[in-house]
Amino acid sequence: MGKIIIKNIKELVQVLDAEVRVLKGEQMSKLSTLKDAWLAIENDLILAYGKMEEFPEITDWNELEVIDATGKMVFPSWCDSHTHIVFAKSREEEFVDRINGLTYQEIAAKGGGILNSAKKLQFASEDELYEGALKRINEIKQTGTGAVEIKSGYGLTADAELKMLRVIKRLKENCDITIKANFLGAHALPVEFKENRRGYIDLIINEMLPKIKEEGLADFIDVFCETNYYTPEEADEIINAGKEIGLIPKFHTNQFTSIGGIQVGVKNQALSVDHLEVMTEQDIDDLAKSEVMPTLLPSCSFFLSIPYAPAKQLIEKGLPICLATDFNPGSTPSGNMNFVLSLACINMKLTPEQAINATTINAAYAMGLEKTHGSISVGKKANIFITNEINSYAFLPYYFGHNQIEEIIIEGKRQ
Ligand code: NIG
Ligand code: FE
Repeated sequence: MGKIIIKNIKELVQVLDAEVRVLKGEQMSKLSTLKDAWLAIENDLILAYGKMEEFPEITDWNELEVIDATGKMVFPSWCDSHTHIVFAKSREEEFVDRINGLTYQEIAAKGGGILNSAKKLQFASEDELYEGALKRINEIKQTGTGAVEIKSGYGLTADAELKMLRVIKRLKENCDITIKANFLGAHALPVEFKENRRGYIDLIINEMLPKIKEEGLADFIDVFCETNYYTPEEADEIINAGKEIGLIPKFHTNQFTSIGGIQVGVKNQALSVDHLEVMTEQDIDDLAKSEVMPTLLPSCSFFLSIPYAPAKQLIEKGLPICLATDFNPGSTPSGNMNFVLSLACINMKLTPEQAINATTINAAYAMGLEKTHGSISVGKKANIFITNEINSYAFLPYYFGHNQIEEIIIEGKRQ
Protein backbone atom coordinates (compact mmCIF):
# COMPACT_ATOMS: atom_id res chain seq x y z
CA MET A 1 0.00 0.00 0.00
CA GLY A 2 1.18 3.48 -0.68
CA LYS A 3 -0.07 6.98 -0.62
CA ILE A 4 -3.06 8.54 -2.32
CA ILE A 5 -3.64 12.22 -2.70
CA ILE A 6 -7.02 13.50 -3.86
CA LYS A 7 -6.78 17.05 -5.18
CA ASN A 8 -9.16 19.76 -6.41
CA ILE A 9 -11.99 18.44 -4.22
CA LYS A 10 -14.95 20.75 -4.71
CA GLU A 11 -16.00 20.22 -1.09
CA LEU A 12 -14.52 17.92 1.55
CA VAL A 13 -17.49 17.01 3.73
CA GLN A 14 -17.59 16.31 7.48
CA VAL A 15 -14.14 17.59 8.36
CA LEU A 16 -13.88 17.30 12.14
CA ASP A 17 -11.27 17.44 14.80
CA ALA A 18 -10.52 13.81 15.76
CA GLU A 19 -11.66 14.56 19.33
CA VAL A 20 -15.29 15.19 18.32
CA ARG A 21 -17.31 12.13 19.36
CA VAL A 22 -20.89 13.14 18.73
CA LEU A 23 -22.97 16.14 17.58
CA LYS A 24 -26.07 16.98 19.62
CA GLY A 25 -29.10 19.25 19.26
CA GLU A 26 -28.22 22.61 17.69
CA GLN A 27 -24.70 21.30 16.77
CA MET A 28 -26.38 18.99 14.27
CA SER A 29 -27.49 21.94 12.12
CA LYS A 30 -23.95 22.69 11.06
CA LEU A 31 -21.95 20.51 8.69
CA SER A 32 -18.25 21.22 8.77
CA THR A 33 -16.71 21.24 5.28
CA LEU A 34 -13.66 22.53 3.42
CA LYS A 35 -14.11 23.89 -0.09
CA ASP A 36 -11.46 23.51 -2.79
CA ALA A 37 -9.52 20.96 -0.80
CA TRP A 38 -7.05 18.07 -0.93
CA LEU A 39 -6.94 14.89 1.11
CA ALA A 40 -3.93 12.63 1.65
CA ILE A 41 -4.16 8.97 2.60
CA GLU A 42 -1.30 6.79 3.78
CA ASN A 43 -1.83 3.06 4.02
CA ASP A 44 -5.25 2.62 5.65
CA LEU A 45 -5.45 6.00 7.36
CA ILE A 46 -6.20 9.65 6.64
CA LEU A 47 -2.83 11.39 6.75
CA ALA A 48 -3.70 15.06 6.18
CA TYR A 49 -6.01 17.47 4.41
CA GLY A 50 -6.11 21.15 3.57
CA LYS A 51 -7.12 23.87 1.11
CA MET A 52 -5.76 23.71 -2.45
CA GLU A 53 -4.04 27.05 -1.91
CA GLU A 54 -1.85 25.23 0.60
CA PHE A 55 -1.28 22.13 -1.52
CA PRO A 56 1.76 20.32 -0.07
CA GLU A 57 5.08 20.28 -1.83
CA ILE A 58 5.52 16.68 -3.00
CA THR A 59 9.08 15.46 -3.31
CA ASP A 60 8.57 11.73 -3.54
CA TRP A 61 6.13 10.84 -6.32
CA ASN A 62 7.10 7.19 -6.13
CA GLU A 63 4.09 5.02 -5.48
CA LEU A 64 1.93 8.09 -5.00
CA GLU A 65 -1.46 7.89 -6.68
CA VAL A 66 -3.06 11.20 -7.53
CA ILE A 67 -6.81 11.48 -8.01
CA ASP A 68 -8.21 14.64 -9.55
CA ALA A 69 -11.65 15.31 -8.03
CA THR A 70 -12.48 18.51 -9.89
CA GLY A 71 -16.20 19.26 -9.42
CA LYS A 72 -16.63 16.29 -7.06
CA MET A 73 -17.13 15.98 -3.33
CA VAL A 74 -15.49 13.65 -0.82
CA PHE A 75 -17.41 12.19 2.12
CA PRO A 76 -16.43 9.84 4.95
CA SER A 77 -18.14 6.49 4.26
CA TRP A 78 -21.57 6.02 5.79
CA CYS A 79 -21.74 4.03 9.01
CA ASP A 80 -24.80 1.77 9.19
CA SER A 81 -25.27 1.01 12.88
CA HIS A 82 -28.34 -1.25 12.62
CA THR A 83 -28.78 -4.18 10.22
CA HIS A 84 -29.91 -7.79 10.10
CA ILE A 85 -28.15 -8.78 6.89
CA VAL A 86 -27.52 -12.40 7.78
CA PHE A 87 -30.74 -14.15 6.77
CA ALA A 88 -31.75 -17.23 4.80
CA LYS A 89 -34.57 -16.08 2.53
CA SER A 90 -36.49 -13.01 1.45
CA ARG A 91 -40.13 -12.49 2.60
CA GLU A 92 -41.95 -10.90 -0.30
CA GLU A 93 -45.05 -13.00 0.49
CA GLU A 94 -45.52 -10.81 3.59
CA PHE A 95 -45.04 -7.71 1.47
CA VAL A 96 -47.95 -8.87 -0.68
CA ASP A 97 -50.02 -9.64 2.45
CA ARG A 98 -49.48 -6.06 3.60
CA ILE A 99 -50.49 -4.69 0.21
CA ASN A 100 -53.68 -6.70 0.66
CA GLY A 101 -54.39 -5.05 3.99
CA LEU A 102 -52.69 -7.00 6.79
CA THR A 103 -50.45 -5.13 9.24
CA TYR A 104 -46.92 -6.16 10.25
CA GLN A 105 -48.28 -7.20 13.66
CA GLU A 106 -51.12 -9.26 12.15
CA ILE A 107 -48.64 -11.07 9.92
CA ALA A 108 -46.39 -11.73 12.93
CA ALA A 109 -49.35 -13.07 14.96
CA LYS A 110 -50.04 -15.71 12.30
CA GLY A 111 -46.46 -17.01 12.36
CA GLY A 112 -44.92 -14.62 9.86
CA GLY A 113 -42.40 -11.91 10.70
CA ILE A 114 -39.30 -12.80 12.68
CA LEU A 115 -40.55 -16.36 13.31
CA ASN A 116 -40.87 -16.86 9.56
CA SER A 117 -37.21 -15.89 9.09
CA ALA A 118 -36.19 -18.11 12.01
CA LYS A 119 -37.97 -21.11 10.47
CA LYS A 120 -36.14 -20.55 7.20
CA LEU A 121 -32.76 -20.07 8.84
CA GLN A 122 -32.77 -23.43 10.68
CA PHE A 123 -32.21 -25.24 7.36
CA ALA A 124 -29.56 -22.93 5.92
CA SER A 125 -25.93 -23.97 6.24
CA GLU A 126 -23.29 -21.63 7.61
CA ASP A 127 -21.79 -21.41 4.12
CA GLU A 128 -25.10 -20.46 2.51
CA LEU A 129 -25.72 -17.77 5.09
CA TYR A 130 -22.19 -16.48 4.65
CA GLU A 131 -22.46 -16.26 0.87
CA GLY A 132 -25.81 -14.45 1.04
CA ALA A 133 -24.59 -11.93 3.59
CA LEU A 134 -21.33 -11.36 1.71
CA LYS A 135 -23.32 -10.47 -1.40
CA ARG A 136 -25.33 -7.95 0.59
CA ILE A 137 -22.19 -6.48 2.14
CA ASN A 138 -20.75 -5.96 -1.33
CA GLU A 139 -24.00 -4.26 -2.33
CA ILE A 140 -24.00 -1.81 0.59
CA LYS A 141 -20.33 -1.08 0.00
CA GLN A 142 -21.24 0.12 -3.49
CA THR A 143 -23.71 2.59 -1.99
CA GLY A 144 -21.08 4.11 0.28
CA THR A 145 -21.24 2.15 3.53
CA GLY A 146 -17.84 1.66 5.18
CA ALA A 147 -18.87 0.22 8.55
CA VAL A 148 -21.83 -1.94 9.47
CA GLU A 149 -23.35 -3.50 12.56
CA ILE A 150 -24.95 -6.92 12.02
CA LYS A 151 -27.38 -8.64 14.38
CA SER A 152 -28.24 -12.26 15.03
CA GLY A 153 -31.87 -12.90 16.02
CA TYR A 154 -33.21 -15.08 13.22
CA GLY A 155 -31.90 -18.23 14.89
CA LEU A 156 -33.86 -18.36 18.17
CA THR A 157 -32.27 -21.69 19.14
CA ALA A 158 -28.80 -21.97 20.67
CA ASP A 159 -27.44 -23.71 17.57
CA ALA A 160 -28.94 -21.30 15.07
CA GLU A 161 -28.05 -18.13 17.01
CA LEU A 162 -24.45 -19.31 17.29
CA LYS A 163 -24.48 -20.23 13.60
CA MET A 164 -25.49 -16.67 12.74
CA LEU A 165 -22.84 -15.17 15.00
CA ARG A 166 -20.15 -17.41 13.54
CA VAL A 167 -21.16 -16.20 10.09
CA ILE A 168 -20.77 -12.60 11.29
CA LYS A 169 -17.36 -13.46 12.75
CA ARG A 170 -16.29 -14.89 9.39
CA LEU A 171 -17.55 -11.75 7.64
CA LYS A 172 -15.50 -9.65 10.08
CA GLU A 173 -12.40 -11.65 9.26
CA ASN A 174 -12.84 -11.52 5.49
CA CYS A 175 -14.38 -8.13 4.69
CA ASP A 176 -12.53 -4.85 4.49
CA ILE A 177 -15.42 -2.74 5.75
CA THR A 178 -15.60 -2.59 9.53
CA ILE A 179 -18.15 -4.93 11.12
CA LYS A 180 -19.62 -5.06 14.64
CA ALA A 181 -21.58 -8.10 15.85
CA ASN A 182 -24.75 -7.79 17.89
CA PHE A 183 -26.35 -10.75 19.72
CA LEU A 184 -30.16 -10.45 19.42
CA GLY A 185 -31.27 -13.82 20.79
CA ALA A 186 -34.26 -12.00 22.34
CA HIS A 187 -35.69 -10.88 19.00
CA ALA A 188 -38.94 -12.86 19.30
CA LEU A 189 -40.20 -15.71 21.46
CA PRO A 190 -39.80 -19.06 19.65
CA VAL A 191 -43.08 -20.99 19.20
CA GLU A 192 -41.83 -23.93 21.31
CA PHE A 193 -41.49 -21.57 24.27
CA LYS A 194 -44.89 -19.89 23.89
CA GLU A 195 -46.02 -21.24 27.25
CA ASN A 196 -42.56 -21.12 28.78
CA ARG A 197 -41.02 -17.65 28.41
CA ARG A 198 -38.76 -18.35 31.37
CA GLY A 199 -37.33 -21.39 29.61
CA TYR A 200 -36.18 -19.38 26.59
CA ILE A 201 -34.73 -16.56 28.69
CA ASP A 202 -32.81 -19.16 30.71
CA LEU A 203 -31.55 -20.65 27.45
CA ILE A 204 -30.23 -17.25 26.36
CA ILE A 205 -28.57 -16.59 29.70
CA ASN A 206 -27.27 -20.03 30.58
CA GLU A 207 -26.47 -21.56 27.20
CA MET A 208 -26.06 -18.92 24.52
CA LEU A 209 -24.18 -16.22 26.44
CA PRO A 210 -21.45 -18.52 27.85
CA LYS A 211 -20.76 -19.86 24.33
CA ILE A 212 -20.69 -16.34 22.91
CA LYS A 213 -18.16 -15.37 25.57
CA GLU A 214 -16.05 -18.46 24.98
CA GLU A 215 -15.83 -17.91 21.21
CA GLY A 216 -15.75 -14.08 21.32
CA LEU A 217 -18.76 -13.90 19.02
CA ALA A 218 -20.37 -10.54 19.84
CA ASP A 219 -19.66 -6.90 20.67
CA PHE A 220 -23.22 -5.88 21.58
CA ILE A 221 -26.37 -7.39 23.06
CA ASP A 222 -29.84 -6.33 21.93
CA VAL A 223 -33.45 -7.09 22.93
CA PHE A 224 -36.71 -6.32 21.10
CA CYS A 225 -38.55 -4.63 23.99
CA GLU A 226 -42.08 -4.32 22.61
CA THR A 227 -45.68 -5.49 23.14
CA ASN A 228 -45.89 -9.19 22.16
CA TYR A 229 -42.10 -9.53 22.24
CA TYR A 230 -40.09 -8.85 25.46
CA THR A 231 -41.23 -6.86 28.52
CA PRO A 232 -38.98 -4.17 30.05
CA GLU A 233 -38.31 -6.49 33.01
CA GLU A 234 -37.26 -9.35 30.74
CA ALA A 235 -35.16 -6.98 28.64
CA ASP A 236 -33.43 -5.70 31.77
CA GLU A 237 -32.56 -9.21 32.91
CA ILE A 238 -31.23 -10.33 29.52
CA ILE A 239 -29.25 -7.13 28.97
CA ASN A 240 -27.67 -7.40 32.41
CA ALA A 241 -26.59 -10.96 31.75
CA GLY A 242 -24.99 -9.73 28.53
CA LYS A 243 -23.26 -6.86 30.31
CA GLU A 244 -21.75 -9.37 32.72
CA ILE A 245 -19.84 -11.00 29.86
CA GLY A 246 -18.73 -7.61 28.53
CA LEU A 247 -21.35 -6.99 25.84
CA ILE A 248 -22.54 -3.42 25.29
CA PRO A 249 -26.32 -2.95 25.34
CA LYS A 250 -28.50 -1.75 22.49
CA PHE A 251 -32.28 -1.94 22.23
CA HIS A 252 -35.02 -2.34 19.65
CA THR A 253 -37.84 -0.40 21.26
CA ASN A 254 -40.86 1.90 20.81
CA GLN A 255 -41.53 0.65 17.28
CA PHE A 256 -45.27 0.13 17.83
CA THR A 257 -45.90 0.96 21.49
CA SER A 258 -44.22 2.73 24.38
CA ILE A 259 -43.91 0.21 27.24
CA GLY A 260 -40.79 1.34 29.11
CA GLY A 261 -38.01 0.24 26.77
CA ILE A 262 -36.47 3.71 26.71
CA GLN A 263 -36.25 3.74 30.50
CA VAL A 264 -34.56 0.31 30.60
CA GLY A 265 -32.16 1.54 27.93
CA VAL A 266 -31.30 4.66 29.91
CA LYS A 267 -30.95 2.70 33.16
CA ASN A 268 -28.50 0.31 31.48
CA GLN A 269 -26.54 3.08 29.74
CA ALA A 270 -27.26 1.55 26.36
CA LEU A 271 -25.10 2.67 23.48
CA SER A 272 -28.27 3.24 21.48
CA VAL A 273 -32.03 2.77 21.50
CA ASP A 274 -33.34 2.07 18.03
CA HIS A 275 -36.65 2.55 16.13
CA LEU A 276 -38.53 5.10 18.37
CA GLU A 277 -41.47 5.52 15.99
CA VAL A 278 -43.77 5.82 19.02
CA MET A 279 -42.41 8.15 21.70
CA THR A 280 -44.18 9.85 24.64
CA GLU A 281 -43.05 13.22 26.03
CA GLN A 282 -41.75 11.31 29.04
CA ASP A 283 -39.68 9.00 26.80
CA ILE A 284 -38.08 11.98 25.11
CA ASP A 285 -37.39 13.74 28.43
CA ASP A 286 -35.84 10.62 29.95
CA LEU A 287 -33.65 10.10 26.89
CA ALA A 288 -32.56 13.73 26.98
CA LYS A 289 -31.01 13.15 30.42
CA SER A 290 -28.78 10.36 29.11
CA GLU A 291 -25.86 9.68 26.76
CA VAL A 292 -27.86 7.04 24.86
CA MET A 293 -27.96 7.56 21.07
CA PRO A 294 -31.47 7.63 19.58
CA THR A 295 -31.22 5.67 16.33
CA LEU A 296 -33.96 6.19 13.75
CA LEU A 297 -34.80 3.91 10.85
CA PRO A 298 -36.83 5.85 8.25
CA SER A 299 -36.76 3.16 5.55
CA CYS A 300 -38.53 0.81 8.00
CA SER A 301 -41.29 3.43 8.44
CA PHE A 302 -41.44 3.84 4.68
CA PHE A 303 -41.67 0.13 3.95
CA LEU A 304 -44.19 -0.76 6.69
CA SER A 305 -46.20 2.46 6.35
CA ILE A 306 -45.84 3.21 10.05
CA PRO A 307 -45.12 6.63 11.61
CA TYR A 308 -41.67 8.17 11.31
CA ALA A 309 -39.73 8.72 14.55
CA PRO A 310 -39.96 12.30 15.88
CA ALA A 311 -36.47 13.28 14.72
CA LYS A 312 -36.96 17.04 14.92
CA GLN A 313 -38.44 16.90 18.42
CA LEU A 314 -35.48 14.87 19.65
CA ILE A 315 -33.02 17.37 18.20
CA GLU A 316 -35.00 20.29 19.63
CA LYS A 317 -34.61 18.70 23.07
CA GLY A 318 -30.84 18.86 22.60
CA LEU A 319 -30.42 15.19 21.74
CA PRO A 320 -28.20 13.76 19.02
CA ILE A 321 -29.75 11.38 16.49
CA CYS A 322 -28.31 8.62 14.36
CA LEU A 323 -29.88 7.25 11.16
CA ALA A 324 -29.48 3.63 10.01
CA THR A 325 -31.06 1.29 7.46
CA ASP A 326 -32.36 -1.68 9.54
CA PHE A 327 -31.63 -3.80 6.42
CA ASN A 328 -33.61 -7.04 6.95
CA PRO A 329 -35.96 -9.27 4.94
CA GLY A 330 -39.15 -8.31 6.80
CA SER A 331 -39.39 -4.63 7.64
CA THR A 332 -36.66 -3.07 5.46
CA PRO A 333 -35.28 -4.94 2.45
CA SER A 334 -32.83 -2.15 1.65
CA GLY A 335 -29.36 -1.33 2.90
CA ASN A 336 -29.01 1.88 0.95
CA MET A 337 -27.90 4.70 3.25
CA ASN A 338 -28.45 7.28 0.49
CA PHE A 339 -32.13 6.41 0.49
CA VAL A 340 -32.19 6.76 4.30
CA LEU A 341 -30.71 10.23 3.86
CA SER A 342 -33.44 11.20 1.37
CA LEU A 343 -36.26 9.80 3.51
CA ALA A 344 -34.93 11.59 6.60
CA CYS A 345 -34.96 14.90 4.74
CA ILE A 346 -38.30 14.34 3.00
CA ASN A 347 -40.35 12.67 5.73
CA MET A 348 -38.62 13.63 8.98
CA LYS A 349 -37.91 17.16 7.74
CA LEU A 350 -34.25 16.98 8.66
CA THR A 351 -31.95 19.40 6.87
CA PRO A 352 -29.22 17.80 4.73
CA GLU A 353 -26.71 18.94 7.39
CA GLN A 354 -28.61 17.16 10.18
CA ALA A 355 -29.09 14.03 8.09
CA ILE A 356 -25.41 13.84 7.07
CA ASN A 357 -24.28 14.31 10.68
CA ALA A 358 -26.68 11.50 11.63
CA THR A 359 -25.26 9.06 9.06
CA THR A 360 -21.57 9.77 9.72
CA ILE A 361 -20.14 10.87 13.08
CA ASN A 362 -23.27 10.08 15.14
CA ALA A 363 -23.65 6.77 13.35
CA ALA A 364 -20.03 5.91 14.17
CA TYR A 365 -20.77 6.73 17.83
CA ALA A 366 -23.76 4.36 17.77
CA MET A 367 -21.36 1.55 16.85
CA GLY A 368 -18.61 2.53 19.27
CA LEU A 369 -16.45 3.56 16.29
CA GLU A 370 -16.34 7.34 16.75
CA LYS A 371 -12.59 7.32 17.35
CA THR A 372 -11.85 5.71 14.00
CA HIS A 373 -14.79 6.34 11.65
CA GLY A 374 -17.51 8.84 10.75
CA SER A 375 -15.51 11.92 9.80
CA ILE A 376 -12.61 13.24 7.78
CA SER A 377 -10.08 13.53 10.61
CA VAL A 378 -6.33 12.96 10.71
CA GLY A 379 -5.60 9.44 11.91
CA LYS A 380 -9.06 8.02 11.19
CA LYS A 381 -9.63 5.09 8.82
CA ALA A 382 -9.41 6.07 5.16
CA ASN A 383 -12.96 4.88 4.42
CA ILE A 384 -14.34 7.51 2.06
CA PHE A 385 -16.26 8.00 -1.17
CA ILE A 386 -15.96 10.43 -4.03
CA THR A 387 -19.18 11.65 -5.66
CA ASN A 388 -19.98 12.50 -9.27
CA GLU A 389 -19.76 16.14 -10.19
CA ILE A 390 -22.47 17.76 -8.06
CA ASN A 391 -23.35 21.33 -7.14
CA SER A 392 -23.93 20.93 -3.43
CA TYR A 393 -24.08 18.20 -0.82
CA ALA A 394 -27.87 18.75 -0.64
CA PHE A 395 -27.98 17.17 -4.09
CA LEU A 396 -27.37 13.76 -2.48
CA PRO A 397 -30.67 13.55 -0.54
CA TYR A 398 -32.48 15.63 -3.20
CA TYR A 399 -31.71 13.42 -6.19
CA PHE A 400 -33.23 10.41 -4.47
CA GLY A 401 -32.95 6.92 -5.87
CA HIS A 402 -29.89 7.73 -7.98
CA ASN A 403 -26.34 6.75 -7.27
CA GLN A 404 -24.04 9.75 -6.90
CA ILE A 405 -21.03 7.76 -5.77
CA GLU A 406 -18.29 7.45 -8.34
CA GLU A 407 -15.38 5.97 -6.41
CA ILE A 408 -15.01 4.16 -3.11
CA ILE A 409 -11.88 3.89 -0.99
CA ILE A 410 -11.88 1.45 1.92
CA GLU A 411 -8.94 1.20 4.32
CA GLY A 412 -6.94 3.28 1.87
CA LYS A 413 -7.61 0.93 -1.07
CA ARG A 414 -9.34 2.05 -4.25
CA GLN A 415 -12.18 -0.41 -4.85
O1 NIG B 1 -35.80 -3.93 13.36
N1 NIG B 1 -38.37 -4.79 15.00
C1 NIG B 1 -37.79 -5.83 15.08
N2 NIG B 1 -36.94 -6.41 14.24
C2 NIG B 1 -36.67 -6.02 12.90
C3 NIG B 1 -37.60 -6.62 11.93
C4 NIG B 1 -37.39 -8.03 11.80
C5 NIG B 1 -38.21 -8.73 10.79
O2 NIG B 1 -39.37 -8.41 10.51
O3 NIG B 1 -37.63 -9.67 10.28
C6 NIG B 1 -36.68 -4.53 12.78
O4 NIG B 1 -37.54 -3.94 12.11
FE1 FE C 1 -33.89 -3.98 13.51
